[in-house]
Amino acid sequence: MKILFLDQSGKLGGAELCLIDIVKPYRDSCLVGLFADGPFRHLLEQEHISVQVLATQPIRVGKESSLLQGVTSVSLLLPLITKVVRLSRKYDIIYANTQKALVVAAVASFISRRPLVYHLHDILSTEHFSRTNRLLAVTLANRFASLVIANSQASQAAFVEAGGRPDITEVVYNGFEPEFYRSNDSNLNQLRQQFGLNGRFLVGHFSRLSPWKGQHVLLEALVYCPENVTAILVGDALFGEQDYVQYLHERVAALGLEKRVRFLGFRSDVVQLMSACDLIAHTSTSPEPFGRVIVEAMLCGRPVVATAAGGVVELVEPDVTGWLVPPSDPQQLAEVITNCCNQPEHAAAIAHQAKIQANQRFNLTNINQQIAQLLVQVI
Ligand code: UDP
Ligand code: GLC
Repeated sequence: MKILFLDQSGKLGGAELCLIDIVKPYRDSCLVGLFADGPFRHLLEQEHISVQVLATQPIRVGKESSLLQGVTSVSLLLPLITKVVRLSRKYDIIYANTQKALVVAAVASFISRRPLVYHLHDILSTEHFSRTNRLLAVTLANRFASLVIANSQASQAAFVEAGGRPDITEVVYNGFEPEFYRSNDSNLNQLRQQFGLNGRFLVGHFSRLSPWKGQHVLLEALVYCPENVTAILVGDALFGEQDYVQYLHERVAALGLEKRVRFLGFRSDVVQLMSACDLIAHTSTSPEPFGRVIVEAMLCGRPVVATAAGGVVELVEPDVTGWLVPPSDPQQLAEVITNCCNQPEHAAAIAHQAKIQANQRFNLTNINQQIAQLLVQVI
């Protein structure tokens, strides 16, 4: 099956990391077209996946853009659309992995008469998207897509609530290769020593630095935790949220947490870092569409506390495979962290159970089979 995958980003967000795993089985007969250059291209090349950067200039329409901005951007999109139309004639399916990719792919699919698949990684709610953008996504998907793959029931429900057709929508969770999440014990000891962690309890936060990812909630929670609880914030401001980064540094200083919090920036050794943590905290203040970091922590055999909203409630069974706390509630988060710190055996049992379930539910081979079956039906 020949597939033209399209993604607007050159950066390594969750949607892009998910796409790499989906593309792998088709690497000999597919092309990934990007609308921006960046580390995503390098990673695809490392995996021997054909990739082309199709846009010559960045598309500057944001999730909250107005109709006027959207219309203006269409003129900028024309050369890109022309390129995609030409390319798509050589493929059986066009697979749009992001919203801007959907816009281009919808037009290309109409002209080149190739079926369109839209992988929906977002919750199309007013918290994240302007009315115009939601309307555009739903209208294009309803009219042109043969299949919408939602990354969780929460994303699917928001799509349908925004007017999306339920009959073309299927939920497929992100898939993961369990072997990838094994770590090396001697590296772990080294890492803990490097961070001066012996005898301390380490909470890891793995996410891009962005207000809705709620790193500030973890900082506030640390104040209510015992002194030996420390944290690493792993991730960078991928989409230019420099004010938030500044704010986080100011909060660390204001709360007197300089010796208890480290900012590690974007890292590619997430598995090693997660494995060195005692607990992984997920603190999104708005509903998380899926939340790869939660499953990754489970596969690393580390306990997870996460905010009970969006797709997260489909991933974590409270007190069985992790803990859930309300969004933006530092005190409850602190309570879970403290309990986890005081009851390591209970935490280990929960992490063990979570690992077993995650291995079964999010196994990449099964997930890719589900996608393959759906794609065959589309053709
Ligand atoms: N990640 C990473 N390096 C970092 C921080 C995060 O590789 O420094 C990865 C993380 O392991 C996860 C992805 O980025 O696979 C984030 O995906 P998630 O679904 O959790 O959130 P998103 O940022 O896509 O909303
Ligand atoms: C998006 C979502 C995230 C999800 C990822 C992969 O980036 O924000 O929650 O895990 O896509 O589907």
